[in-house]
Amino acid sequence: MLVLGVETSCDETALALVADGHRVVASHVVSSLKAHQPYGGIVPEIASRAHVELFTLSLELLLKQASVVPSDIDRIAVTHGPGLPGSLLMGVAAAKALALAWKKPIIGVNHLHAHLYAALMQRPQDLSEDLPTIGLVVSGGHTALVRMDGIRKFRLMGQTRDDAVGEAFDKVGKLLKLKFPGGPEIERTAEQGNPKAFRFSVPKIRGGSPFDFSYSGIKTAVYYKVKEQGDGVSQQWVADMAASFQHCVVEELAMKTLEACRQEGAYRLVVGGGVIANTPLRERLLAVCADSNIALAIPPLSLCTDNGAMIAGLGFYGNPSVPDKLSVLPDLRVELN
Ligand code: KG4
Ligand code: ZN
Repeated sequence: MLVLGVETSCDETALALVADGHRVVASHVVSSLKAHQPYGGIVPEIASRAHVELFTLSLELLLKQASVVPSDIDRIAVTHGPGLPGSLLMGVAAAKALALAWKKPIIGVNHLHAHLYAALMQRPQDLSEDLPTIGLVVSGGHTALVRMDGIRKFRLMGQTRDDAVGEAFDKVGKLLKLKFPGGPEIERTAEQGNPKAFRFSVPKIRGGSPFDFSYSGIKTAVYYKVKEQGDGVSQQWVADMAASFQHCVVEELAMKTLEACRQEGAYRLVVGGGVIANTPLRERLLAVCADSNIALAIPPLSLCTDNGAMIAGLGFYGNPSVPDKLSVLPDLRVELN
């Protein structure tokens, strides 16, 4: 079965064709990132307008690249939440129009489920294993630890109380006057830095779940350290700060995730989201999982940040519906479909 995947929840206009949930036939990702950079963050209005401008051209290119015609497509899968309302609306409206014009069934996909599915996509044999599994989503909009009881059935164990982890990377990047988005820039800058130069303490989470996260404390700590330095910060100071921040975040994510696996008796961990592109985080997770005999499913770099392939892949599963029934759900939770 050939599925067309449509992803427009943030700044990427991403389309892909995936066969039988696993084989990526073609994928096309274009981002309006450059237009947002002068503002130091994603401007929703700019993102929605860019989707309108980029969508049809991207679709044409995708079909041409794959030598596919609409009649070859069996189903359309589209991200219907969570995400920026205007951006989601554009993708869902376009997908519905295609479904009506081409007379195809359509299925709404939860973006967070798709980020985790990206890790399993190229390992279909793993899907049949009925192991207790923990999922960790770390993206620009979300930080969530879940218990996975199937590829579309999740129970929330912990989430962020304030900023998502990718958002924290981006805001700390801004404080250090690095280019937006801060995540990849912090990783690059940290390569020259000493991760033990500054000590940040992991906040104690009161009430709620012990698996919740909070990044406002560490962000404020970086803010005051930058302020103390004034204008005279050296490149080395910035590198040390980037490395120390990254080290603290990576350690906490790895330790809490390991603890969640232990509590649930899970021998499999599935991870996903843009921040999983971070090499120190990937390496730390690989090391703790190897030490504890946990099978780690981690997406290839091409499937970490937003893409249409993870949407088309997951859209192969589940029951499609008619276009009228599909709505946009900007606040869609990880427990829901
Ligand atoms: O999953 P994604 O593409 O979009 C959302 O669903 O939010 O994630 C984007 C986030 C951004 O915050 C970006 O800074 C972060 O992922 N990111 C990284 C890296 N690459 C992307 N964070 C840390 N290290 C990276 N290498
Ligand atoms: Zn995402």
